Amino acid sequence: MRRHRPTRTLVVLPDAPDPDAIAEAAAIIRRGGLVAFATETVYGLGADATSPQALRGIFAAKGRPSTNPLIVHVDSVDSARPLAADWPDSAERLAARFWPGPLTLVLPKTPAIPDVATAGGPTVGLRVPRPRIARDLIARSGVPIAAPSANRSLGLSPTTARHVAKSLDGRIDLILDSGPTAVGLESTVLDLTGNRALILRPGTITAENLAEVLGDLPAIRSRSDEATVARSPGQGDVHYAPRTPAYLASFEDLAQFDRPSRAGLLVLGATGPAEMVAFGHRIELLSPEFAEPHFYDALHRLDEMAFDVLVIVPPPDTPQWAAVRDRLLRATRPPELRPW
Ligand code: TXA
Ligand code: MG
Repeated sequence: MRRHRPTRTLVVLPDAPDPDAIAEAAAIIRRGGLVAFATETVYGLGADATSPQALRGIFAAKGRPSTNPLIVHVDSVDSARPLAADWPDSAERLAARFWPGPLTLVLPKTPAIPDVATAGGPTVGLRVPRPRIARDLIARSGVPIAAPSANRSLGLSPTTARHVAKSLDGRIDLILDSGPTAVGLESTVLDLTGNRALILRPGTITAENLAEVLGDLPAIRSRSDEATVARSPGQGDVHYAPRTPAYLASFEDLAQFDRPSRAGLLVLGATGPAEMVAFGHRIELLSPEFAEPHFYDALHRLDEMAFDVLVIVPPPDTPQWAAVRDRLLRATRPPELRPW
């Protein structure tokens, strides 16, 4: 078991991080410790991806099931190729176009990646994060860095250092605080091991964006496939959820909301009727461009207000909203459980 000790936060500039701070964080990684750092998507909880012991520390700190594989972060495409047993032409072209950036490529792994990183599976998820802070840390550590989102398992992903501390304070060695992340939703996860590329987790790099490079639209794993195949175990239901019970509801459904319980409201994609007196606080995120970077922070804020229930009005079912809708379905409970 890890000893629980206070976690330090070091504040750094995202694009010109203090070399001493990077050196200190890299020393922690090299000796098997845990460092939270910002990527462009969410904060990651980093450890040496070549050390089974360090990797076990990630699973322990998060309370993450050992069956859920980790994404391995490298600082360049040159560092990624040797970690894949097969590097198809599609990987080369996708990396050239989207790396550094919010795209994870799932490929057959080499023995350089310990089994604990991949949950015993034969494939590894690889990506090159964009911010200088992340790539400097990887380069200075001299090893690939495995990093899941820096939150306790099943909780909301962190887009600020404060979100990380709320969830993992005392369980990890260091938080590098370089401010809020720019993209705000986790990377698109694309499986390249089959005949046709398959999106395992939608993100801000969309199927249409990928098709421009692949020539064809990738397949998209449906939620029913997920239930039966469980190919990416972390993609189970209620994965990115606030602690407050959250439910999806249309404005029409909300007309029936007359319970005296204290409720917070998150509206995505549309303004609704101004008068909704049953609600204690209301956050509106109108466009996908704006909703993506602020989505998790809005849920963190509403969660902190300790309402009895959170109600979320979902955005329209269009490709631009696909990544947000995916996270919403995971963050909420089934409508039949609604308390009103
Ligand atoms: O944007 C991101 O991807 C962030 C930042 C820190 O890079 N990381 C992240 O990691 O979201 P995590 O562990 O919270 O989510 C990774 C997802 C999980 O659902 C996991 O099951 C899936 O990617 N995954 C990782 N490796 C995989 C593999 N070899 N095959 C299939 N799915 C994989
Ligand atoms: Mg996660």
